[in-house]
Amino acid sequence: MTTTHVTPADTDLPHWETPPDDLPAAIREVKSAIRARIEASGRTVAEVFAVVEARVAERVAEIRAARERGEDVWPVIHYADIEQGTVTPEQLEALRRRGCLVVRGHFPREQALAWDAGIVDYVEGNAFFENYRGPGDDFFGSVGSKPEIYPVYWSPAQMEARQSERMATVQSLLNAQWTHESDGVQWFDPDRDSLYPDRIRRRPPGADSNGLGAHCDPGTLDLWMTQGYQQAFRHLFDGSVEQYDPWDAAHRTSGPQYPGTTMCSAFRTFQGWTALSDMDHDQGVLHTVPIPEAMAYLMLRPLLDDVPDDDMCGVTTNQVFPASERWHPLLLEALSGIPDVRAGDSVWWHCDMIHSVAPVTDQQGWGNVMYIPAAPWCERNERYAASVREAFLSGSSPSDFPEEDYERSWPDRFAPEQLNETGRRGLGLD
Ligand SMILES: [Fe+2]
Repeated sequence: MTTTHVTPADTDLPHWETPPDDLPAAIREVKSAIRARIEASGRTVAEVFAVVEARVAERVAEIRAARERGEDVWPVIHYADIEQGTVTPEQLEALRRRGCLVVRGHFPREQALAWDAGIVDYVEGNAFFENYRGPGDDFFGSVGSKPEIYPVYWSPAQMEARQSERMATVQSLLNAQWTHESDGVQWFDPDRDSLYPDRIRRRPPGADSNGLGAHCDPGTLDLWMTQGYQQAFRHLFDGSVEQYDPWDAAHRTSGPQYPGTTMCSAFRTFQGWTALSDMDHDQGVLHTVPIPEAMAYLMLRPLLDDVPDDDMCGVTTNQVFPASERWHPLLLEALSGIPDVRAGDSVWWHCDMIHSVAPVTDQQGWGNVMYIPAAPWCERNERYAASVREAFLSGSSPSDFPEEDYERSWPDRFAPEQLNETGRRGLGLD
């Protein structure tokens, strides 16, 4: 791996646009530079961190109190209200405060169940299980010969959902929560999605699953080490933390990302999935730390004195960004699960937020979802769309995922002539 290590005039932080060869040395160097920059503001790192900690602690207390009162922590908005423009300011305030949302009735339940059945026909008709070669990566682990995560991207069901009017309507509302224009730059187009292709999960009744530990997905060491992210997180790194805004898209949508098994080449305002089965809240479901500002905590925590100089609280390249009891116990107190959802509901969370999947034994009912995020059109997503287009046309796995390429010879995958205007715009064909 080649290393670009430059210190241009417009920043006094060292940065590496590809992963540094000597990670511990680069961590030491960037931490000491960020500390110096913060201290130049007249406050110590500990003082600045205390501001963030107090802000986050207030939210944690609020969430614990809501939970103790038996209230749902996750905001819920009905699709009909989004479509008719009758979402209240209070509902939008809750969405921004918690950074997550359940959209009830995003699709009619019958539609979602028909998509689920369509996926079964699609994979069984193409002998997917007979030809399945095991997990292409170890991110989700393996459960016997039948996978829970299907590395399938181009089924009619997935593409119909991605290019649907209802999906575009919800994505626009979510994108609009971000400041997408500033300093004369439009950082992204809130009303055009790039149709980020992702997989399907179908977890059968009776399944046992260890779930997934608490983590976040926006990046790894690149969050501290690349120039784009150093600019995006400028208020965290220069002592002006009071001005840090988790909804500011400035400098988030153009820069590179370090390669790795968990990377996402696209900029997503929200991660999300659409339920293809009913799921009860205690059946191994998604949890988040519903505090968008917690990112400030995650980014500054490694700078405190009790963390070894060459350690970023366990964050390293090629591994998921962990949130841990050791370094982030305050944050994990707020971990909150989704309420019961029905097929056709969708679930969304701010791209920087910590999330986990609870373990389950002997799961009741299916646990089926299509992963469809909000990935609005921007420089970074336009770049990735070029490879998505090629993967779509050849039926290959998208380049963010292992090269499993099951669907290349499947005759009934979604065809280019089935694209509508949203689909063509999303793939950059119009
Ligand atoms: Fe994740």
